[in-house]
Amino acid sequence: MYKPKPTDGDTSWFVHDRFGMFIHWGLYAQPARHEWVQSREEIHPDEYRKYFERFNPVDYDPKKWAAMARDAGMKYVVLTTKHHEGFCNWDSAYTDYKITNTPYGKDVLTPYVEAFRDAGLRVGFYYSLIDWHHPDFPIDLLHPLRNHPDALEMNKSRDIRKYAEYMRNQVTELLTQFGEISVLWCDFSYPGRDYKGMPGKGHKEWESEKLYKLVRELAPNIILDDRLDLPKEKADIKTPEQWQPMEWVKVDGEPVVWEACQTLSGSWGYYRDEMTWKSPGQLIRMLINTVARGGNLLMNVGPTPKGKLDQRAQDALAVYGEWMDQCHESIYGATQSDYKEPLDCRLTQKDNKVYVHVYAWPFKHLYLEGLGDKVAYARFLHDGSEIPLKLNDWVSQHLQAGENALILELPIIKPDVVVPVIELELKA
Ligand code: GLC
Repeated sequence: MYKPKPTDGDTSWFVHDRFGMFIHWGLYAQPARHEWVQSREEIHPDEYRKYFERFNPVDYDPKKWAAMARDAGMKYVVLTTKHHEGFCNWDSAYTDYKITNTPYGKDVLTPYVEAFRDAGLRVGFYYSLIDWHHPDFPIDLLHPLRNHPDALEMNKSRDIRKYAEYMRNQVTELLTQFGEISVLWCDFSYPGRDYKGMPGKGHKEWESEKLYKLVRELAPNIILDDRLDLPKEKADIKTPEQWQPMEWVKVDGEPVVWEACQTLSGSWGYYRDEMTWKSPGQLIRMLINTVARGGNLLMNVGPTPKGKLDQRAQDALAVYGEWMDQCHESIYGATQSDYKEPLDCRLTQKDNKVYVHVYAWPFKHLYLEGLGDKVAYARFLHDGSEIPLKLNDWVSQHLQAGENALILELPIIKPDVVVPVIELELKA
């Protein structure tokens, strides 16, 4: 089985755990129409303030979120500490635009960290490089004021170097005041994308090299993502977003540690009227497809402005919970298999176990090329019942099952599991 080259951060736990929860939570939960609402609708910071003045998540109880993540089988969590809107979820000393100055009046980050750690999950922070509130953040193509008639003029007094320093100060807070943080997820760079004479931003503007050095000093083992516009050696994980890789994700032709981030419905922040919630089959297959190509899945929830997970999100997490409860062995510690995938199936592998995820239930027989003389025993993961191996019966003679095929005899009726999994124990 393939193992990517080690990077500066410690990804050993990460490639074992495979499944995490992303949480996008900020002022944008209130308009409830995408976390980019301020940019999309070009809302002036003065007007956007109405959300700051009203943020009061009275129902916030991170223990409930943590229990739901744990029950879904998730092993780590990444929360937005600050998203592009610039609002901070902790009591930062470097801004007033923070949770403690809202009507809620309390830090939400410390209880979050404690709750998830207590539930046995590793804790990560998302930190937006983009900031539509900071007065030194130059207006650019993504900024809500990009079409303001005085945008160019306003940029004259905005000093990106001060903003880069602000980020280092905040990252220092995040990596020193909350105990061990396992992932820092910085988002994102868009160098060279000019808009009306206002350039995009990349490593030069963020001073990413300095930020990188700082992060490594404060947290040598932390996993850092790939969105700082730094050379590839300085990214521990590659982070495809909102699309599902069909093969192991490569950088310059070389397979790397990767994590797909996905949403339960189409938006990251709470989006009340968005209706494209994924079906149970899609949810489970996305997780399997990811691990079957050597990756991790970071599945997002967007809590409501009152601080709860919407019923639709809870239902989706329960789908994961039920399936993982029965079939988690094919996910934790597993990766892309060395064997050929049978028709309508995905394989994962861990040591001497190959896991067959059956996407479309066949009639009676499943053919696995290349495994005919290799398997000692086969069983369903969900109930542990045996699946007979058929090697030289009449079926194999009638069918071209491929080279050295193994034939499994399946029940006619698909077991009542979203995606049934068969465990093949390889001979010693
Ligand atoms: C993006 C978006 C964003 C989201 C992120 C998650 O780059 O800007 O809203 O936080 O992807 O991957």
